[in-house]
Amino acid sequence: MTSDLRDFSGQIVLVVGAASGIGRAAAQLIASRGATVIITDLDQPGLSSLQQELNLKSNQVKNVDLGSQSSIQSLVASVISDHHQIDALVNTGGIVGPTNTKLEDTDWAAFEKTVSINLFGTIWLTQEVIPHMKSRKYGRIAHVASIAGKEGNPGMHAYNTSKSGMIGFIKGVGKEVATEGITINAFAPAVIRTPFNAGTSDETLKYMLGRIPMGRVGEPEEAAEMLAFMVSKACSFTTGFTFDASGGRATY
Ligand SMILES: NC(=O)c1ccc[n+]([C@@H]2O[C@H](COP(=O)([O-])OP(=O)(O)OC[C@H]3O[C@@H](n4cnc5c(N)ncnc54)[C@H](O)[C@@H]3O)[C@@H](O)[C@H]2O)c1
Repeated sequence: MTSDLRDFSGQIVLVVGAASGIGRAAAQLIASRGATVIITDLDQPGLSSLQQELNLKSNQVKNVDLGSQSSIQSLVASVISDHHQIDALVNTGGIVGPTNTKLEDTDWAAFEKTVSINLFGTIWLTQEVIPHMKSRKYGRIAHVASIAGKEGNPGMHAYNTSKSGMIGFIKGVGKEVATEGITINAFAPAVIRTPFNAGTSDETLKYMLGRIPMGRVGEPEEAAEMLAFMVSKACSFTTGFTFDASGGRATY
């Protein structure tokens, strides 16, 4: 028995969006701290390369589409069937949606898709894992929101809405399960060096970078450190909160 509260030995940690970027770095770090990680994503080739790198068994690799409630239900049922418990959920799956798009040019379908994957995915994932955590009186949940959910970036209305929705959502759930041994928190990074921003317009990137006082982007490993803390036993007295990694952009 270790006294290091950041150690994950014996724990089952589900990492959603693990094929790339922040999720991949989080899965690598949490696995290195002793967890049995279950990696899941839409991107099968990305999952396969991480599976090889971490030498994971086939029942540690699962597909999910965050835009589908039934896919989320199947994912969680499959993890429970194979591993019997979920100690922690790290949800990093998401899309950026339209950028540099004025409100009057924003269309319903693109908006709905972004909110469906980012926000509804968060909600239904949480709904599925909570009963399993309640039954063991232990659980840690971290959802990756964004600085955009705190401050809003112009021309990114669907993304801003989805991310501030996540920040609002975890506040209520945190209070609802506060006596169940479960914590649920959000994480609001500024720009992190991942493929996520490949489709982001130059105007939007310039706007976001110009607001980071440290004058640089964050690294996926820096985000992963925060997430690993948030889903560890060490994060025991903080719930319904939004952690920050923004190079000084957000100080609240
Ligand atoms: N990179 C940044 O600058 C930045 C800043 C703030 C917040 N974020 C947030 O961090 C999270 C991770 O982003 P990242 O930078 O690692 O990007 P990324 O594109 O490298 O990773 C996102 C992952 O989500 C997966 N995904 C997308 N749609 C999915 C779906 N429908 N179902 C399942 N998986 C899906 C992708 O396949 C990908 O592996 C996202 O929620 C993003 O909004 C990123």
